[in-house]
Amino acid sequence: MSQFTDAFERKFYYLRLSVTDVCNFRCTYCLPDGYKPHGIRNKSFLSLDEIRRVTRAFAAAGTEKVRLTGGEPSLRRDFTDIIAAVRENASIRHIAVTTNGYRLARDVKQWRDAGLTALNVSVDSLDARQFHAITGQDKFHQVMAGIDAAFDAGFQQVKVNSVLMRDINSHNLMTFLEWIRTRPIQLRFIELMETGEGGALFRQQHVSGEVIRDQLIAQGWQRRLSGRSDGPAQVFYHPDYVGEIGLIMPYSKDFCASCNRLRVSAQGNLHLCLFGDGGLPLRDLLASDDQQQELQARIASSLGKKKQTHFLHQGNTGITQNLSYIGG
Ligand code: GTP
Ligand code: 5AD
Ligand code: SF4
Repeated sequence: MSQFTDAFERKFYYLRLSVTDVCNFRCTYCLPDGYKPHGIRNKSFLSLDEIRRVTRAFAAAGTEKVRLTGGEPSLRRDFTDIIAAVRENASIRHIAVTTNGYRLARDVKQWRDAGLTALNVSVDSLDARQFHAITGQDKFHQVMAGIDAAFDAGFQQVKVNSVLMRDINSHNLMTFLEWIRTRPIQLRFIELMETGEGGALFRQQHVSGEVIRDQLIAQGWQRRLSGRSDGPAQVFYHPDYVGEIGLIMPYSKDFCASCNRLRVSAQGNLHLCLFGDGGLPLRDLLASDDQQQELQARIASSLGKKKQTHFLHQGNTGITQNLSYIGG
């Protein structure tokens, strides 16, 4: 099977696989009212065997990185087994998770032993009270202990995601920089994206990542180039800092030109874009091992429909009510 490629010659090395929609946090920009079961969608998430089959099909078509997302992926009781199932594919060299950090301190060692290679944790504020206000959970210290546990378990670097919000954290660059001066953390500021449910917050709080980029450049930070299976962050480094800064700027020009990723939702639908539509059901081809060729063919033939860009600038939010439903 040849490499998954679209009509714009973009190659897909990176699969973002959501393993559950459920989340126990209530981040203001994502699930301000908390997780609510929605129709039949939440009834059954992909089983371990279905996850094994879908990752095998992607691996055979050149995928080298799988990121497990949600919702909160670690709320699945079989999460460690999921990591181990993805690891069965020798060509998948990077197995990553994006987590709210709730289960990190307890479980990160066993995730690493099962084959996890990279870890992204959401921390929108370094102030415990503000963290509580944003996430609805008084778990700042637990998440920080989780990041320490990740280093103890052997991770060389941890990525931390902070959604950039005008009145919340856009003025705190120096606090964040102090935090990463001596820690091998890649701290990433993510531009707030407009979702179907988040229009009002977007209008109040969205700021461009250029605000941060200009300050970094003025302070001598330099851009580092990305590899072919890296995520969309522009990464900056500085000789005085152990940590790095990443900027994720989906509203910037050409953000989509380097798109290298596809998404599969927790219900087994293929999404060609975070802000695309409907999703192509794959689940009927995940019932047995001998459907792999057909599965690959269905995915490959759908790639012609992948659009050149997300059209976020034009107010498109697609079906994306909030990012927890298709794994961010
Ligand atoms: P690395 O591979 O470690 O660089 O991670 P990543 O940035 O790909 O993954 P993560 O789950 O940490 O995502 C960080 C932010 O980037 C989230 O808010 C994602 O929704 C956003 N993001 C990732 N890929 C895309 C994309 O294709 N389009 C848009 N609009 N946002 C994306
Ligand atoms: N805009 C930007 N980032 C978001 N995330 C969730 N919702 C949004 C949004 N509306 C981020 C989370 C997490 C990642 C998977 O997506 O903070 O780090
Ligand atoms: Fe949960 Fe992540 Fe959404 Fe926060 S951003 S509510 S942690 S899925």
